[in-house]
Amino acid sequence: MHFQWYPGHMTKAKRQMQEDMKLIDLVIELVDARIPLSSRNPDIDDLGKHKARLILMNKADLASKEQTAAWSSYFKEKGYFVVNLDARTRAGMKNINEVVAKACQEKIERDWRRGIKNRPVRAMVVGIPNVGKSTFINTYAGKACAKTGNKPGVTKGKQWIRLNKNLELLDTPGILWPKFEDQRVGLYLALIGSIKDEILNIDELSLELIQILQEKYPGILHERFEIQEEQKPAEILGEIAKNRNCVKKGNELDYSKAAALLVEEFRSGKLGKITLEFPEKQS
Ligand code: G4P
Repeated sequence: MHFQWYPGHMTKAKRQMQEDMKLIDLVIELVDARIPLSSRNPDIDDLGKHKARLILMNKADLASKEQTAAWSSYFKEKGYFVVNLDARTRAGMKNINEVVAKACQEKIERDWRRGIKNRPVRAMVVGIPNVGKSTFINTYAGKACAKTGNKPGVTKGKQWIRLNKNLELLDTPGILWPKFEDQRVGLYLALIGSIKDEILNIDELSLELIQILQEKYPGILHERFEIQEEQKPAEILGEIAKNRNCVKKGNELDYSKAAALLVEEFRSGKLGKITLEFPEKQS
């Protein structure tokens, strides 16, 4: 899904989320494991304060295992529960129920003390567009789930998916908008494919990607395209064009075709498991 944000959308989404927050105990926030900070909007910390918090590092299949582990510790140290995930497969869902139970333990105990027994935990999935919210809900809820329908006394029109006797999920995910204040954030979102390609300069994007790869993942470009990495990014792009036979009429190298190819290979994981953003060392 491609997206563009207008202030009207943002305000409406935020207001909706504020309303939905009143109904839930647990915020299940999806981030993209390749850019765990740039793919989240820190406003959720304010919107979701006093709620149990679970971060799902989704698309972990495309991210560096080592960096995903580092990010997982980073978020855990900040008090979030964390699960690494490929939302397309059921395998990753095994852990979630257990972690959800842990994340909500406090609430369950509080309910018990007040004599409220067996009230299911209510959760809501949130995240920026394209992070995998719908995929997650579909895989997690699976076919077995039953929609509970509107409940009298609860906000009209809300549909809950009953996952088991302990957990209900709001069936529409909350949409957060990314924070574009920092240029790097825009670059990273563009690289993972969360910004309309038509408005991007893919040539520029590919040069930025080459630079990141040279710096953080030495050897990857050499291995994939049989090229010398100690060159300027534009020269490397030319080598990629040669290696992949990207030529225009008249045998001229087609840089744009090579750029698109490189970016596609990154996005689809063909270049390897690559995380673009690294956690700051905790001191
Ligand atoms: P959204 O509701 O948050 O907007 O995201 P959605 O579930 O629609 O997922 C966006 C794309 O990301 C989908 O690809 C989906 O298959 C893919 N995706 C979701 N979770 C994962 C994951 O854990 N790993 C990988 N590798 N991909 C995941 P799509 O519909 O095919 O779109 P696109 O790939 O053509 O962009």
